[in-house]
Amino acid sequence: MSSISPADRVFILTGAGVSAESGIPTFRGVNGLWRNYRIEEVASPHAWARDPWLVWEFYSMRRRVAAAAKPNPAHFALDKLEQRLGNRLSLCTQNVDDLHEQAGSLRVVHMHGELFKSRCDGCSRPPFRDTNTYDPPAELPRCECGGRIRPHICWFGEVPFDLDRIFRALDECTVFIAAGTSGVVEPAASFVAHVAGRARTIYVGPENPANASAFTECHLGKAGEVLPNLFTQVS
Ligand code: OAD
Repeated sequence: MSSISPADRVFILTGAGVSAESGIPTFRGVNGLWRNYRIEEVASPHAWARDPWLVWEFYSMRRRVAAAAKPNPAHFALDKLEQRLGNRLSLCTQNVDDLHEQAGSLRVVHMHGELFKSRCDGCSRPPFRDTNTYDPPAELPRCECGGRIRPHICWFGEVPFDLDRIFRALDECTVFIAAGTSGVVEPAASFVAHVAGRARTIYVGPENPANASAFTECHLGKAGEVLPNLFTQVS
């Protein structure tokens, strides 16, 4: 148990484990495969170029699962912390669902994109809300410019969103918390090393992540059980 003082600035990184208790499967757990594909094989520019239908089937499945999910106590605990800390808290998620927003969080940075948004792969039209599911044999969705509509997701080999803003917040934080992330996907896996030595670094999840040695505290347990009780005092 620890406390947050008025001088603290808190950076929170969430991963798939935070949505696990809402029924959204993690990527690298026992059910981490989709139709025998690893995530890296369906979430890449290469996959999009080779078989866009396979990619849309994968994201349509994920849209259906996420549309049925509700936030769990972990999401609500982080919203409560934001209500106490205001802009002294930065919430950065690798998750593409909208469960943090559904729980009430206002300042969410989606570094890997958002499941319920799409964009054109050919023009600079801004990403737009899109809750549709696309399945063959329909036509692939097209933009007015003729380009193909793709999920607004950062795929393997692409640069995550908002990195400037994220590193500014990392540079300012005095408390770093990672929850429900296996610590293998870069650049998020190295955020803890970036702040180590000058910030308290806390991990929350049922097992140690791959980068556990960089954390000063690992609280082993489900995010929905640990996060609501992580801080005894918040001021
Ligand atoms: P992973 O699937 O790699 O890891 C999920 C982590 O959540 C594991 O370490 C589990 O131990 C932990 N976990 C499981 N249940 C939990 C619970 N109830 N509470 C807390 N933790 C729990 O997911 P990420 O680390 O988020 O990227 O994966 C990072 C990125 O890899 C994803 O954003 C995605 C994926 O490929 C893209 O799609 C670009």
